[in-house]
Amino acid sequence: MDDTVQKQPMPDRSARDGLRRATDVIHQRLHQHPMLRRLAEGSISRSDYIALLHRFLMFHEAVEDRLHRGPDLSEHGIDVAERRRSPLLHNDLADLGAPAMIAPSPVHQFLLVPGSAAAAIGYLYVSEGSRLGGLGLARSLDGLLAPGSTVGRSFLVGYGPRHGAMWRDLCDAIERMGAADEDRDTMISAAMGAFALFEACIEARGTLLAETV
Ligand code: HEM
Repeated sequence: MDDTVQKQPMPDRSARDGLRRATDVIHQRLHQHPMLRRLAEGSISRSDYIALLHRFLMFHEAVEDRLHRGPDLSEHGIDVAERRRSPLLHNDLADLGAPAMIAPSPVHQFLLVPGSAAAAIGYLYVSEGSRLGGLGLARSLDGLLAPGSTVGRSFLVGYGPRHGAMWRDLCDAIERMGAADEDRDTMISAAMGAFALFEACIEARGTLLAETV
């Protein structure tokens, strides 16, 4: 992730604009979730931060699994394997001395394997877009983790400058795909499904054995 990612122009009526408008309500609702709000405010406890990482892991592992089993996106310039974010979450959990999640919640079963490239790109919009706010969130952890260090927050910091180019490539694919109304609608439905999965994951308190950490 880098700051340039957020400065990308987004013309009205673009396919990304359609995605953003359609998912705005749930995105804004997530900002109000107590755990995410405490993270943003810099007041999250270590145990809640670990619990939050487990929820992100549940979400990203489910999305990565479905994308892996879905259509090949190479002709759209997308390599889903290089966009996996779960390894960063595993690194952070290990750095914090927390176990990897060992009892995934059944909520992830509700995410379907994408039946088309448009649906897969809709999933990627959510999993990749979720890191746009990550750098700011990473900075808010200075009070909890060693300031200036990425240890324990590599997921939020992201893969560095490469993220800017990867996000732009995804936005290009979104626009190409969104040229057809049907594909645009499919992308939006898939993105809404992925957001709904994240919301279910973050509410999955009590379903993770790792919750006892
Ligand atoms: C407190 C938590 C969060 C904060 C502070 C936050 C903040 C942000 C910010 C600053 C942007 C960039 C907006 C722009 O480019 O103008 C963004 C974009 C985005 N975020 Fe979040 N976010 C949070 C949580 C999430 C979560 C949990 C998800 C999904 C699971 C998510 C999905 C997205 C998506 C898809 C975009 C791209 C929107 C676009 O097309 O510009 N965000 N977020």
